[in-house]
Amino acid sequence: MSENINTLLKESRVYQPSAQTKAAAYIQDYESAYKQSIADPEGFWSNVAKELEWFTAWTKVLEWNYPWAKWFVGATCNIAYNCLDRHVKTWRKNKVAIIWVGENDQERIITYGELYRQVNRCANGLKKLGLQKGDRVTIYLPKVPEQIVAMLACARIGVIHSVVYSGFSAPALANRIQDAEAKLVITADVGFDRGKVFNIKSVVDQAVANSPTVEHVVVLRRQTPGVTLATPKEIDWHDWLKAEKAVCEAEHLDAEHPLYILYTSGTTGKPKGVVHVHGGYMVGTYITTKYVFDLKDDDVYFCVADPGWVTGHSYIVYGPLLNGATILTAEGKPDYPNPGRWWDLIERYGVSIFYTTPTAIRLLMRYGEDWPKKYDLSTLRILGSVGEPINPEAWEWFHRATGENKPIMDTWWQTETGAIMITPLPTVPLKPGSATRAFLGIEADVVDSQGNSLPANTGGFAVIKKPWPAMMRTIYKDPERYKTYWNTIPNCYAAGDICHKDENGYLWFMGRADDVIKVAGNRLGTAEVESALVSHHAVAEAAVIGKPHKLVGESIKAFIILKQGEVESHALIQSIKDQVLKELGKIGVPSEIDIVSSLPKTRSGKIMRRVLKAKELGQDPGDISTIED
Ligand code: WT7
Repeated sequence: MSENINTLLKESRVYQPSAQTKAAAYIQDYESAYKQSIADPEGFWSNVAKELEWFTAWTKVLEWNYPWAKWFVGATCNIAYNCLDRHVKTWRKNKVAIIWVGENDQERIITYGELYRQVNRCANGLKKLGLQKGDRVTIYLPKVPEQIVAMLACARIGVIHSVVYSGFSAPALANRIQDAEAKLVITADVGFDRGKVFNIKSVVDQAVANSPTVEHVVVLRRQTPGVTLATPKEIDWHDWLKAEKAVCEAEHLDAEHPLYILYTSGTTGKPKGVVHVHGGYMVGTYITTKYVFDLKDDDVYFCVADPGWVTGHSYIVYGPLLNGATILTAEGKPDYPNPGRWWDLIERYGVSIFYTTPTAIRLLMRYGEDWPKKYDLSTLRILGSVGEPINPEAWEWFHRATGENKPIMDTWWQTETGAIMITPLPTVPLKPGSATRAFLGIEADVVDSQGNSLPANTGGFAVIKKPWPAMMRTIYKDPERYKTYWNTIPNCYAAGDICHKDENGYLWFMGRADDVIKVAGNRLGTAEVESALVSHHAVAEAAVIGKPHKLVGESIKAFIILKQGEVESHALIQSIKDQVLKELGKIGVPSEIDIVSSLPKTRSGKIMRRVLKAKELGQDPGDISTIED
């Protein structure tokens, strides 16, 4: 941990905001807004909080008892109330909240008024099953509106939701149900994926068989005839709610009352249950959605995530609904039934804000630029990326394919941070591959293992220096594990990512600290080497690992996927190595390159390098419950 990380990649392109982007933006001058926010962070956050509704006001903005934070101390609020009641009291009552498109193109359009009624019915249904404030409910649903309804219904009455992505296996689900001691599981009969039907209910059956805390299972039946239910434990979603009233008072909750647990995988050991709370999380997701995406009432906002991941929690459900936005959410994959799927949805619904991932962009890149060209994408005005470093090659492609003049918000954050931390705002000049600067009120830095700030262009650890409202409050039932985030580097929250700042203070994420490769005394981040590999015209995707090497400590091994139509050859491998040599110099060139047809990824699209490494070295890969294949 003591040595710094070498930075090899030099990216010099800068994109200035267009006149149109500037004219629209809430934040005209990032520099002065940032300075002001940092001079008085508590003042900044409390002003943001005042844009929302509280049942009773706070007596203190922050109580910081290292590493434990309480925000908006003494206040009562309810995030679901702010997502719904605040809007149905206004003209937004009949504004579209959710446009949902099924994989088979089925369409459901739900207004704020209708969502409010559905959520209230569901909240009353939860009460009828005996659920009380503080109880846990596991939601294991495919991407259907009921997933959002169930989340908000829990929040409304102070029940803590634990959403589990519906691709998880029975043991992974059981583990999460048991850790949370959930009393209720909400699920569906089936989900759809690339034209195939997959049985969700049977996974739940297996998981629940070993989970004694579960009293009921609610099943959303999408197929006819419906699956048989083992009553009275199993209840049909519609039967459950048909007699319920559409009115249910929102619980007045302490600002620090837990909103949800979301399990995220650790490198080793069991998944961590990240806990977020009503008050601070509401403030953080609200303002980041508003400023980063410059969200306005006439926008149509499309985030491709699944609510089963934190991106879905913060930027499909809570952030956008807090802002009264119209959200498009679609079941299915970007290349089914064809690679025009998302472009088609953007054209059809006039999407103006589009938030996606580098993995998805690289997937669509493989099919070429003709696909986006077939569609009218002129309604788009702000783009977003999240989940991994976006390599400049993918950034440029995304920028070009969507019409050259739309700013890309490369948003860096984590399940643990709750909300976006490092990001451009639409008026900030962009450098492809950099997540640019800290969000307002956030103090970020790049430091060595002792917490000393590093000079420009020296790689080190990405840290956050002060608490922020949307930060996780603990790891469920494991406070010791929570403390490690704040104990690894003195006086900082250590994200576990490596990063460098350039001469303009722009941050460049270089991969996970766990994945750093050490070649002849040089410590390299995976992102730079992978980015250099992908800058070769024949390479679609790349992952690199370090392999023990007698002479140089570690040597670099690369796994790459070729673009459609490219054929493996000795000459091709050599030209790929030459490309890396040109981009990074000798030190970054992989000594081995394997051509593969797929890479191990999490279901949210992140490459699992440690799985590649374990396989290569014949070791145990650790927790692989989140792996896609
Ligand atoms: C890790 C957090 C945050 C929502 C989705 C993932 C990586 C995330 C970026 C970005 C470089 C990024 C980091 C981070 N990451 N966004 N824009 N640039 N790296 O949430 O599963 O909690 O993963 O994803 O390594 O630590 P998560």
